[in-house]
Amino acid sequence: MFEFAINSVAPKYELYHELVRSADALTDGETDAVANMANVAALLWEYLPDVNWTGFYRMVDGELVLGPFQGKAACIRIAVGEGVCGTAAASGETQLVADVHAFPGHIACDANSASELVVPVKRKGEVIAVIDLDSPSLMRFDADDAAGIEALAEVLANRI
Ligand code: SME
Repeated sequence: MFEFAINSVAPKYELYHELVRSADALTDGETDAVANMANVAALLWEYLPDVNWTGFYRMVDGELVLGPFQGKAACIRIAVGEGVCGTAAASGETQLVADVHAFPGHIACDANSASELVVPVKRKGEVIAVIDLDSPSLMRFDADDAAGIEALAEVLANRI
């Protein structure tokens, strides 16, 4: 139904520009949060090279609960403050982790994960979800990836 042109040699900011544009188009006018998160998890999986998990944890009654994702089955509940996702939720800050094994309290859902990027999605200043990306490569994510996913989080703030 939707076809997106992915140019793998494009600079990273162009990749994220296309990704955010596609996510915006796919979620525009759709009020179902699960449908929107499912499509965005699929877009992240399709667009981003060298990832083994892309998806969402949602803030539900004060804890993070697994949302739509691509990749291996993952842990379902994460306490705020625990692991990389819980740290992003507690602080409201993006977590860019070059080596997950060096992150105190990292929660290993997929033993292949080596680096991770977690970006909080905020609505009216409250964290309502986090976007989680895992890679089997060390130092896979940098500040450009963080900026790209932060732009995505802004688009999704009122759509999930
Ligand atoms: N590694 C995460 C847990 C979620 S999985 O990566 C899908 C963490 O430490 O919070």
